[in-house]
Amino acid sequence: MTSMRTVALTLAAAAAALAFVAAPAQARTTQAELKEGGWAFESPLGRFDQAQLQRGYKVYAEVCSSCHSMNLMYYRNLCQQGGPFYDPKHPNPNEAPVCKAIAADIKVPDIDPDTGDATERPATPADHFKAPYANEAAARAGNGGALPPDLSVMARAREGGANYIYSLLQGYKDEPHGLTVPDGKYYNIYYPGDLGSAWSGPKDKVPVGGFISMPFQLVEGRVTFDDGTKSTTDQMAKDVAAFLAWAAEPKAEERKQTGLAVMAYLILFAGVLFLSYKRIWRNVEH
Ligand code: HEC
Repeated sequence: MTSMRTVALTLAAAAAALAFVAAPAQARTTQAELKEGGWAFESPLGRFDQAQLQRGYKVYAEVCSSCHSMNLMYYRNLCQQGGPFYDPKHPNPNEAPVCKAIAADIKVPDIDPDTGDATERPATPADHFKAPYANEAAARAGNGGALPPDLSVMARAREGGANYIYSLLQGYKDEPHGLTVPDGKYYNIYYPGDLGSAWSGPKDKVPVGGFISMPFQLVEGRVTFDDGTKSTTDQMAKDVAAFLAWAAEPKAEERKQTGLAVMAYLILFAGVLFLSYKRIWRNVEH
């Protein structure tokens, strides 16, 4: 009797747990299947393509940085090992001429030590990437109430990572007939959303995607790449996504290399251990 009861109770609990787990699946958030960037850096020993990182930084600096901060990045990071402008001749990123020059072109706020007044000075490699807005209120005011999120770890913060950023930046499509796009928003097939309430067409044909407050940015030719690569929308989106993937984990390459060394050591150690085991037990009956 008791055992029947236990079984019934267990089943009820399991059903409740299942209903709880299944519930979020009811939300109809949709997005189109992401485009694949075919990233070399995603394989276990993959590396970032330095030329791509340089192009990606240029896209960030000339386009995205007018709205998005990258508060976890310093200019010197660009010249550290594995970074877009790393040069083995200048291993100290604070002294690397490229990073000094990049920083010197940017004016950051400072305080005049004599008068205490707010002034500006050229940045140095030791400065943070300059944020486009002084604070969140200013950022929202400049973007119709929406907040452009910090991009430092964006490639890790969103499902799909670099593929998501790569896709999102080129996901702006003309809205299908029957979809009402709110003022100040843009239809994007990769931005997760639920467009049911803005859709007047057949209920089983609600378009995938969502409304985003960021306008389309990467018009063909928006930046001029120094290496002569043609700046198509796809190319710029791919390069900036790679740059953001690197920025989200600038030590990824080092970590992979350390991992490899550790594995090699462990295999070697296992071999030595096995041989000494054989030796110790050589003359023992067992
Ligand atoms: C004119 C300002 C502006 C520019 C320039 C801009 N963005 Fe945005 N971005 C926004 C705003 C505003 C949002 C917030 C959108 C929202 O909440 O609907 C946003 C959101 C995003 C998001 C987050 C989407 C999500 O899933 O929440 C990513 C990623 C992004 N931008 C990447 C970029 C990249 C990369 C560039 C440069 C190629 C760029 N943005 C240029 C304004 C801008």
